[in-house]
Amino acid sequence: MEITQQLLNWWDDGHADWPWRNGRTPYAIWVAEVMLQQTQIATVIPYYTRWLERFPTVQALAAASLDEVLKLWEGLGYYGRARNLHAAAQTVVNEYGGNLPRTVPELMRLKGIGRYTAGAIASIAYNQPAPILDGNVIRLLSRLTNLPDDVTMTLTKKKLWQLAEEMLPAGRPGDFNQAMMELGQTVCLSARPQCSVCPLTAVCRARQQGTQLERPVRPPRKRIPHYDVAARVIWSANDQFLIAQRPLNGLLGGLWEFPGGKQEPGETLPQALQREIREELGMTIKVADHITSIKHAYTHFRITLHAFHAFHAGGVPQHLGVDDHVWVSLIDLDNYAFAVTDRKIIAALRKEAA
Ligand code: ADE
Repeated sequence: MEITQQLLNWWDDGHADWPWRNGRTPYAIWVAEVMLQQTQIATVIPYYTRWLERFPTVQALAAASLDEVLKLWEGLGYYGRARNLHAAAQTVVNEYGGNLPRTVPELMRLKGIGRYTAGAIASIAYNQPAPILDGNVIRLLSRLTNLPDDVTMTLTKKKLWQLAEEMLPAGRPGDFNQAMMELGQTVCLSARPQCSVCPLTAVCRARQQGTQLERPVRPPRKRIPHYDVAARVIWSANDQFLIAQRPLNGLLGGLWEFPGGKQEPGETLPQALQREIREELGMTIKVADHITSIKHAYTHFRITLHAFHAFHAGGVPQHLGVDDHVWVSLIDLDNYAFAVTDRKIIAALRKEAA
């Protein structure tokens, strides 16, 4: 097929040489594909290199503790990916003799591997004719075909998967899939498509119609809510800070935090803190000075996190709404995996202490 060959020629003319592209094991390709979900290449590279140094094989990953896994993932976001990768590594070791399965349906039985990741692993690591569809490929294909349909609809997605499958060359599915992603990343950009250097410019229907910027079609974005004040506390007692581990199955599950929670209507921030600490840990506290306030955007909401000093007033920590707790010194905080917001609180604390 002509388009397929043009794309492969473009790829052969010089593609980026990312660390996961040369002689990598299926395990290493799997790690890269999981890290690259929702995350930019430049952000992923240092994490990827560190990860493979520490966990060079699926056996090494399976044998590690979840705490260590989360620590290496700290700052990369979407922490469910790390928990799933760890659990799936254990499945691969225990049920597949340490060999990652080769087919899309088998790969999809592993935690955290959806159709995209299964297709990427099967095609890149095993040269299987499996299509992929990610945000880049959706943009590319919807422009190539000048697709007028809303790409968030199930039926449209189905059509796009089918198209991606039909275009796959028998001999080089992995190169083809990566060429599509790379063309989407470097040329077929969402706001500034570089049509003059695109190898597919002559066959691109959107280019012919001048509709590049209107493809892909998506419904208007919903405004994401802002939880004006989510509150967290720093506790000190003998210069130790109380940190708690978030429940495994929720947002940022398994990460450590300075405990606290969302402010309810009618509450002051100190009241919110006192209530949250009572509910989550069964303790009473005295709230003292404000330390810093941090804004952060998650996928579906934004928060402003207000951190306060607080002192232990009564009760021993119980695990009512947290999975674990520990008292640690300012230095030892580095041994635990925190979300980005809590890392910023630690930085503010260190500045105060300096
Ligand atoms: N994004 C996700 N997987 C990728 C890959 N293999 N190459 C480049 N970008 C990617």
